Amino acid sequence: MEKMKICWVLFSIMLAIGDASKILVVYPFPSRSHANLGDGIVRNMLKAGHEVTYITPFEFKNAPPSLRQIDVSNLIDLMPKGLLTIKALMDGNNISLNIAFMTYMVTEIFKGMILNENVQKILTDPNEKFDLVIAEWMMSEIPAGIGAVYDCPFIWISSVEIHWILLRFIDQAPNPAFTVDIMTTYTPPLNFVQRAIELWNQVKLTVLNYVILDRIQDNVYSTYLAPIVEKRGRKAPTLDELRYNVSMIFSNAYVDTSSALSLPQSHKYIGGYHIDEKVKPLPEDLQKLMDGAKNGVIYFSMGSNLKSADMPDELKATLVEMFASLPYTVLWKFEEVFPNLPSNIHILKWAPQQSILAHPNLRVFITHGGLLSTTETVHFGVPIIGIPVFADQFINVHRAEIRGFAKRVDLSYTMAGELKKAILEVVSDKRYAEKAKELSFIHHDRPVKPGDELIHWVNHVIRTRGARHLRSPALGVPFYQKMFLDLAVVLTIVLALSYILLKRAWRYFRSGKSKSSKKNN
Ligand SMILES: *[C@@H]1O[C@H](CO)[C@@H](O)[C@H](O)[C@H]1NC(C)=O
Ligand SMILES: *[C@@H]1O[C@H](CO)[C@@H](O)[C@H](O)[C@H]1NC(C)=O
Repeated sequence: MEKMKICWVLFSIMLAIGDASKILVVYPFPSRSHANLGDGIVRNMLKAGHEVTYITPFEFKNAPPSLRQIDVSNLIDLMPKGLLTIKALMDGNNISLNIAFMTYMVTEIFKGMILNENVQKILTDPNEKFDLVIAEWMMSEIPAGIGAVYDCPFIWISSVEIHWILLRFIDQAPNPAFTVDIMTTYTPPLNFVQRAIELWNQVKLTVLNYVILDRIQDNVYSTYLAPIVEKRGRKAPTLDELRYNVSMIFSNAYVDTSSALSLPQSHKYIGGYHIDEKVKPLPEDLQKLMDGAKNGVIYFSMGSNLKSADMPDELKATLVEMFASLPYTVLWKFEEVFPNLPSNIHILKWAPQQSILAHPNLRVFITHGGLLSTTETVHFGVPIIGIPVFADQFINVHRAEIRGFAKRVDLSYTMAGELKKAILEVVSDKRYAEKAKELSFIHHDRPVKPGDELIHWVNHVIRTRGARHLRSPALGVPFYQKMFLDLAVVLTIVLALSYILLKRAWRYFRSGKSKSSKKNN
């Protein structure tokens, strides 16, 4: 009886621990849109009752007591300056997304994060313990080393749809004959040349990683993190061991906008988790404005990284003129005020984007096509006009166009005319809005809400101490075994030997026969 009581007490303690765990969320990339996704993870973890420590370059506003923030704002200085002004991009200073350059830049940022004094404090304090580390995968596996420091399970978040580079870590790279690289604009079914290029992309990056890119990261891990693991009295695993030891990967996508791949059990879609289930009400003046817009509203925002104030003056002037000629109410997120603004144009220094997208009078959203914005438009079922300027925006807009809820306009000094044509087309052609509504339906018609999916699997990984049962059996099977190259070698040898033996036997038989026939003569 007494024993049972103790068991019960222990069991309830375990349950209590299981409910509120200590989670470290690692989102050091100094860009507002990445931080928005990190904030979404943190909000969901707090909602689930966990104690969260958050490594972030931007302050999480109105933090509750169960959130501790580790400030890495010094990393903002490590981002190349002036890269992201509209003028620079229009003058052709677009940095091509050279993967080697990106890996180098990102490695510097992660090194900066580890060496940040606030981060050093929690890494080197032996009393600091976590039940789980969740980190954004941003072209580098260095954060997996932080999981090793605390000897706890580790989860990656992919800010974009799941892709072959990440799938290698929990299963295997999918077949490039029908899955495309995250940076190409091909859409399956692929033709002969496209398939060859996709295969080449996988082979090229695999070799490049093996020869240099992985080694640069290994170096940062073994110099700055491995010694901390050893100080805690454990043998430090190699970064390569950690690469293939993550518990799960969640991707900020869903099959509404990503391709319907067959995926391992340790991957889950959580796209849309950063959007609050309850839409916040619009500020009163904006609500009145949108309610009263008889012909509908156009919302124009180039996101948080690109300041529209950096836009060349001639472009601003032609845009104002063009918007003024439209019968619609225009909401323009912009950081400066113009004099003598036409009455249908309204400048918003700060825009409650999700609440604007939720308003039924909104006709079209003019956006750079960043992933957060495209996810939000699908969530709320709004068609877009995409003006891509950077990174994955070209691909997001391209894919949105193929799915039929977007029209693309190229950024240029003279884009006003083309933008006007696009606006008129998207507003008048019902198919754009219908397609957006259809995808929105698919997005919402799932068994659980993305935030709940996220919370469930995080808790599952903590409760099962790493969810080893979800590990794909493909992990750890060497390439030659998957391709049955060893079997091919064995079969070749067997066939060759049989051939030789048969030939010999034949000769022997023949010579025996001729001898006996000689005898008989
Ligand atoms: C960069 O700009 C050049 C010249 O404007 C253009 O030809 C090229 O396609 C651009 N590259 C990307 C990735 O946008
Ligand atoms: C792999 O992760 C599990 C927990 O998920 C942990 O117990 C194990 O020690 C890790 N292995 C290595 C080599 O880090």
